[in-house]
Amino acid sequence: MKHNGPVELTLEQKRTFYRDGFIVLKNIVPKELTHRARRLVNITAGQIMNGTIDAPKRRNRFVGSEDIITDLVNKTALTELLTNTMGPFDPPTNGFAPILYPREPTREIGIHGLPDDEVPNHAFFPHLDGQWTGPIPQKADEVDDWYAPKTPHFGDRSASVIGINGSPLFQDPDCTLSLGSFTTFVGVILSDQSKFGYGNFAVLRGAHHHTAEFFRRQRAQGGVIGPEGPDWPRLKPVGDKGVGINYMPEWIANHYRESAQYTPDGLMWPEPTPLLVEEGDAFITAHGIPHCGTRNDLGADPRISAYFRLRRHRPGGAKVRGDSDHPDRGWEGEFLEYPDGYNPWQVAIDKLCDPWSEWDGMREVVAEARG
Ligand SMILES: [Fe+2]
Repeated sequence: MKHNGPVELTLEQKRTFYRDGFIVLKNIVPKELTHRARRLVNITAGQIMNGTIDAPKRRNRFVGSEDIITDLVNKTALTELLTNTMGPFDPPTNGFAPILYPREPTREIGIHGLPDDEVPNHAFFPHLDGQWTGPIPQKADEVDDWYAPKTPHFGDRSASVIGINGSPLFQDPDCTLSLGSFTTFVGVILSDQSKFGYGNFAVLRGAHHHTAEFFRRQRAQGGVIGPEGPDWPRLKPVGDKGVGINYMPEWIANHYRESAQYTPDGLMWPEPTPLLVEEGDAFITAHGIPHCGTRNDLGADPRISAYFRLRRHRPGGAKVRGDSDHPDRGWEGEFLEYPDGYNPWQVAIDKLCDPWSEWDGMREVVAEARG
């Protein structure tokens, strides 16, 4: 049984979604479903804490394949709403529901290369989904090449190199694409996130337009699409001789210079738009929206949300699980079989460069905006 709820975005909501790259859907998931999902997350986290069960290899993935999690999409108005807005998609068999416990800022150097407590905006450090993540050189003088580093962290630099997050260094065997692609990142809110500082999902509002333009520029220059392509070095210098993964091209961030904050090392920290949301709300975002789960440094309770990565059917394309940021490869990075004539990498590049072509229900609004 599908629960009742709005199954179509209004014209105004579609315009907002196109402009901002995300939209919040208030109170669209029944509390009965969010309650049992939050309960499952807490039960499982408690079992891991008590040593009753082992922690998973990827610590974010301690729940996800249970009906209690996937029902948040499959048994709610979200399925019909997404079908009407995007088009047909595989019902998720997997999601994930990480916990962000409340904590004080620390002096620990994060993946951004700065001490956690020096990063403004509750540690908003936006990234694009679908990138290789793993250990990197710690000192600038260890880096041999900021664009295409060749230290042992990156193995033989082939498409068989897989990050700790399961994402390949390159998607395709020819290493022309270094970013996984799907259509939408969907969040279902399971705990109170009504104030910024409660571990909110936050975005760089409107940046999906810049992201798509950036990929078109990379394509026009004949380069790799994604990290290591034109204007996107995989690593960047940070602070005093530190190194960070370059999760978002500077070209995109530069559109946000005026409202950004700067740390003494000169690094720019663009202003986030935190999603102020409550249990039962959901959000849908465009794949190209830079985003970040921010620090839960004001809340008293664990921040719990369930997330899904969904993709409009690509005829000939792989079946999509619903949690993977690299759905054209297997979960562990395996190469998949495709029908003759189907080139998943070319399709992915086309969609990265024209993401609205995967949103059937947005056609009129997109045409109107493009005037
Ligand atoms: Fe992400």
